[in-house]
Amino acid sequence: MNLAVVGAQWGDEGKGKIIDYLTEKFDVVVRTQGGNNAGHTIVVDNEETILHIIPSGILNNNKICVVGNGVVIDPKVLLEEMDALKKKGAKITKNNFKISDRAHVILPYHVALDGAGDKSEKIGTTKRGIGPAYMDKYEREGIRMHEFVDKDVFRKKLDESIVKKNFLLKNFYNDNEISADEVFDEYSKYAEILKEFVADTSFIINKSIDEKKSVLFEGAQGVMLDIDHGTYPFVTSSNPSLGGVCTGTGVSPLRLNKAVGILKAYTTRVGSGPFPTELEDEIGEKLMKIGNEYGATTGRPRRCGWHDAVVSRYSARINSFTSFVITKLDVLSGIKELKICTAYEKNGKRIEEFPSDINVLESCTPVYETFDGWEEDISGITKFDDLPENAKKYLKKLEELTSTKISIVSVGPKREQTIFVGEL
Ligand code: GDP
Ligand code: IMO
Ligand code: MG
Repeated sequence: MNLAVVGAQWGDEGKGKIIDYLTEKFDVVVRTQGGNNAGHTIVVDNEETILHIIPSGILNNNKICVVGNGVVIDPKVLLEEMDALKKKGAKITKNNFKISDRAHVILPYHVALDGAGDKSEKIGTTKRGIGPAYMDKYEREGIRMHEFVDKDVFRKKLDESIVKKNFLLKNFYNDNEISADEVFDEYSKYAEILKEFVADTSFIINKSIDEKKSVLFEGAQGVMLDIDHGTYPFVTSSNPSLGGVCTGTGVSPLRLNKAVGILKAYTTRVGSGPFPTELEDEIGEKLMKIGNEYGATTGRPRRCGWHDAVVSRYSARINSFTSFVITKLDVLSGIKELKICTAYEKNGKRIEEFPSDINVLESCTPVYETFDGWEEDISGITKFDDLPENAKKYLKKLEELTSTKISIVSVGPKREQTIFVGEL
């Protein structure tokens, strides 16, 4: 079976944990898009690992991990991540780790441009150079991995590209120029090390599928951060929704068998942008503290709020998820009264579908349905039937509101804190 795992809210839904949990049953794990703006946390044997570029299947033995063509790669960060994983005992060789030859490279001028000016502040980007690297890709001026690992081509393209970037940095942002020589000296060393991992990954993945191997696709970010379907312009620069899985890997949609959306039991968002169910009160505080809601990449506190079923229903529509995985249900224990947003209201009018215009969205108020909570600590529960009745009711309501079944419920960050409910 080939399965895509996609974030169904504003990112940080627990994709890393679920990918790590599911990897056991797959042969190949493929990261589809985004870059080191992502932070995917996995906890194995009480040890936490945060992955930014490498697929979250890497801590499972004997799996092939692939970074797809849709990913933008900061070579320095990738090498640091590889070293840190090797220190933890992970095996990373040219046989089990592959990087797409068509993936684009993030260079220091992309990072500088992402940090310059006030746009990144307005959006609240991660300042990792993601937007500027995708801009170069779509301008058809980017440097791809196959060019990066060819010294002469890299030098030529770097020289061409950096002139424009320095013009912007100097004249537009009043910032320091970047030396092409320095970038080349440092980054051509990284290219030399990474060269052996670079391959035609679409060929490798499709061949694996031909050979009846199973492939797990790991999305980054979430549908509401999608450049097309998210809360534009408060989004990232790629397509975290299901379409991005195919364009980001060179695998046809016809070869995917299932797609699961990861949903937090409540909602979080890091960075700026509209968030109708945001709680700026003691319950929001409580979710942040108990849920340990701090960005895995930037350490920024995440904004917290009630579950927004307008969002999850929209997400189910965009992606046709075969099921949802609900994470962090344990965090809701001890909250007397829980709310789920079932629709929005604007000037007395009920809105059921997620608006395209963020100005409309910002003037919407959530319509809530209220549920009795549960007191019990559920973080040790391994069977669905053992969950408190009110927790089951809450989950059933989510299924009903999204017309999508729930296949897995996560009740803690560890691999074993996972309840398998039924078919994915
Ligand atoms: P990702 O970007 O979607 O992979 O998610 P992150 O790793 O950025 O954020 C999810 C956070 O929640 C991490 O700290 C996880 O260890 C943690 N986590 C995942 N699932 C659960 C869960 O079911 N319960 C609790 N309490 N924490 C979880
Ligand atoms: P994972 O994969 C949550 C957010 C940033 C900012 C916006 C644009 O861990 O779920 P960017 O640097 O991408 O140009 O920033 O997108 N963002 C994320 N939020 N989880 C992520 O990834 C994110 N990646 C980007 O905070 O609001
Ligand atoms: Mg994250």
